[in-house]
Amino acid sequence: MNKVLKTDQEDISLILDEIKKYSADYLASLHDARTSHTDQDVNLEPLGDTGLGTSRTLDYFNENFRKIIVSSAGPRYWGYVVGGVTPAALAGDWLTSVFDQNTQTTHGSGDISAILEKQTIRLIAELFELPDVFNGGFVSGATMSNFTGLAVGRQWAGLQIGKDIARDGMSDEIVVLAATPHSSVIKSLSMLGFGSSKIIKIGTLPNREAMDLTVLERKLFQLQGKPVIISCSAGTVNTVDFDDLAAIAKLKEKYNFWMHVDAAFGGFAACSADYQYLVKGWEYADSITIDCHKWMNVPYDSAVFFTRKEHSKLQVQTFQNSNAPYLGDPLENFSYMNFLPENSRRFRALTAWFSLVAYGKEGFRSIVANSVNCAKAFGDYLEADESFELTAPVRLNVVCFKLKEAEKTPVFSDTLNKTGKVFMTPTVLNGEFCLRAAFVNYLTTREDVDFVFEEMKKIVRVL
Ligand SMILES: Cc1ncc(COP(=O)(O)O)c(C=O)c1O
Repeated sequence: MNKVLKTDQEDISLILDEIKKYSADYLASLHDARTSHTDQDVNLEPLGDTGLGTSRTLDYFNENFRKIIVSSAGPRYWGYVVGGVTPAALAGDWLTSVFDQNTQTTHGSGDISAILEKQTIRLIAELFELPDVFNGGFVSGATMSNFTGLAVGRQWAGLQIGKDIARDGMSDEIVVLAATPHSSVIKSLSMLGFGSSKIIKIGTLPNREAMDLTVLERKLFQLQGKPVIISCSAGTVNTVDFDDLAAIAKLKEKYNFWMHVDAAFGGFAACSADYQYLVKGWEYADSITIDCHKWMNVPYDSAVFFTRKEHSKLQVQTFQNSNAPYLGDPLENFSYMNFLPENSRRFRALTAWFSLVAYGKEGFRSIVANSVNCAKAFGDYLEADESFELTAPVRLNVVCFKLKEAEKTPVFSDTLNKTGKVFMTPTVLNGEFCLRAAFVNYLTTREDVDFVFEEMKKIVRVL
């Protein structure tokens, strides 16, 4: 063994102590750490012949890079939809690397990881009160989950017209309908050979991002006989609008289509007695996307893909690792490799499992309630203020707004984000430049909301 590697391996306990202290120090600084850096000037050295060993590598990292790490896991990072990391999730994630499993089979190999993954999927379904009609597995993020849902939907759609797309290649007869799909749905259509431009956009309800069901039904009527996939939104990224999933599911009585639901973060509405109505009807979906690295507050990367148990055969047709016949009949000898895109797979479930077991339903209900309360409080401040204007109602956990003097919004956004005290994502809604603040981090408090609003007022005064 290489000398440096051997010393590291012998010193593993000391190294872990050092990393533990380093991590605890970082986490203690998270509340005040900067949410952005303007100076990203770093020295990227070529690979040395002799390695530094872990301890000196940590020093090297510390001197050169640590200072420009952004506190994206902190309480005032409100950009995109970025969750934090709960202590249990951190523990689970650390152990995921310690155990270093390649999570595949639930039978015969003596490896518990796939069994625990199945159990974790069941726990997540219980958290969301989804009926026991879904199978699922972990993927890297909602993009991959949307990809997987649309891939299995594509296989289903092909079979409606007698085509085995996984085996014989793409058919251009399949139609994908959506109202306000997330960009990752469009990206998935590119990757899957549909072509990103081929999606048919269904009109939305007035001043909404949710699908107009009259328009949808008209389209379904015209498309009778064609294989159709409907990609539904359960929480659009700008205004957290929800397609009426129950009404869309009801249309299945009259029309034949695959119903995919992108509930990347909006699915967590199911954890709230006040908001669970928003996902009513998702239990009838053919496939569902849930992100864990958003509102579940587990570290990147982690998401779940759910599909109905009756679609197992379609899943295998789509993802079977068919060049390895020695693996046996995939429907009898279960291996995740035959049900999801990746072959080798990280034991991602362990991180989510730790979180679920550690905090239970109550824990996640409280995280969701806290985020929604913070979003509402922030929305109330903006609504009551003479300088700001909400550009959409605060439906759940995202606040979308602009300055009343709309032309000043871009410079306001830039100035605010450069303070390093808060980060929000610039976006465009109805052709207008806006800012959006997404609340999903369990660390965010009402004090953070008050503090940020004060900072915003200071900037507006001198703009
Ligand atoms: C509704 C929705 N779908 C999909 C995604 C893509 O998620 P990921 O970045 O985890 O792939 C996002 C990310 O914000 C999202 O909000």
